[in-house]
Amino acid sequence: MTTIQDRVKQAFVERVGSEPSLVVRAPGRVNIIGEHTDYNDGFVLPMAIDRAVYIALRPRHDQYVIVESLDFDEIAEISLIEMVHRPPEWSEYVRGVAWAMQEAGMMLSGWEGVVAGDVPIGAGLSSSAALEMATARAFAAVSGLTWEPAWIAKIGQKTENLWIGVNSGIMDQLISAAGRAGHALLIDCRSLETQAVPLPPDTRIVVLDTATRRGLVGSAYNERRQQCEAAARHFGVKALRDVTPEMFAEREHELDDVTRRRARHVITENARTLAAAEAMRRGDAVELGRLMNESHVSMRDDFEISREEVDAMVACAQAHDASFGARMTGGGFGGCCVALVRAADAQTFAADVAACYTQATGLTPTIYVCEATDGASVVETLAS
Ligand code: GLA
Repeated sequence: MTTIQDRVKQAFVERVGSEPSLVVRAPGRVNIIGEHTDYNDGFVLPMAIDRAVYIALRPRHDQYVIVESLDFDEIAEISLIEMVHRPPEWSEYVRGVAWAMQEAGMMLSGWEGVVAGDVPIGAGLSSSAALEMATARAFAAVSGLTWEPAWIAKIGQKTENLWIGVNSGIMDQLISAAGRAGHALLIDCRSLETQAVPLPPDTRIVVLDTATRRGLVGSAYNERRQQCEAAARHFGVKALRDVTPEMFAEREHELDDVTRRRARHVITENARTLAAAEAMRRGDAVELGRLMNESHVSMRDDFEISREEVDAMVACAQAHDASFGARMTGGGFGGCCVALVRAADAQTFAADVAACYTQATGLTPTIYVCEATDGASVVETLAS
């Protein structure tokens, strides 16, 4: 089978007429627990997955990036001197990263490349963060810059916030930049410190794509963010991370019902995420699964970011014998769920849950049994 790595290399040779000098890779992610906590300075526990964006490239001797996308069958030409918004849309992520790196004072060299990936787009697995981090990895390599994941992740977040216009947190870029094979990362989104925690023995992480896509996600996401910020202001703290369960219990009656529930989700989710990392360190799959189930209820009832199909998928997954727990993952309003399952039964689980979900909704899901992989890296250097 031809890998994506081979495909981008072959396409590079066909278009440019010589070998690329390197290939970079940056993965998508699935968040095991810790949802909508990142922009509250809280904790998240994502893992980088074996679905990624690859770029085959070689440096150019001018200030241009010429990049072809095999997935969109389009070529984009980007001037590093004159940074302006231009179609096609996918290349805005490449352009935005170049803009943010230059804004941060980095001297960038141009390159010629071919990009392709297998992170499903818009499914909540961070295809855009993967493209951003692959782009940053490419620039770092051709421009001789050191790869500092936390710093580079901030560049990616700045791209999203200021170039693309989505007010997202740091999680997706940081896990794509810093992921570790076989592990999830407990990320403190205030200090940006990461700790690798191993997956419980004999378990697998399964991603369940509901085949529903989020509509109007930007506005709903930003609205949740504003509600959290309003709650933090009420408590007189910088972010909801600073509100302990005790502080919340004492003063929750002062908040209106919606703000109270939004805050309760974030405060309890932070506690669950820390407890989940502890459970993983102990190899306690049962406890981790229980926390994932609780997280789903909190997202559904307090944060209100689930939907009928997502709840149906979670119900199918939780009811299966091989499952320890399941929840929606990512920003919400559709996309993917994540389940922790017994490794030996992962394939049966995938087939049974797919059938259960189709029966319940009439939709055909896509199910991936995932591996935890390393974050963005140069995967191949060719002598040319
Ligand atoms: C999206 C954002 C992240 C994070 C999650 C919710 O993936 O990009 O920063 O806020 O939603 O946990």
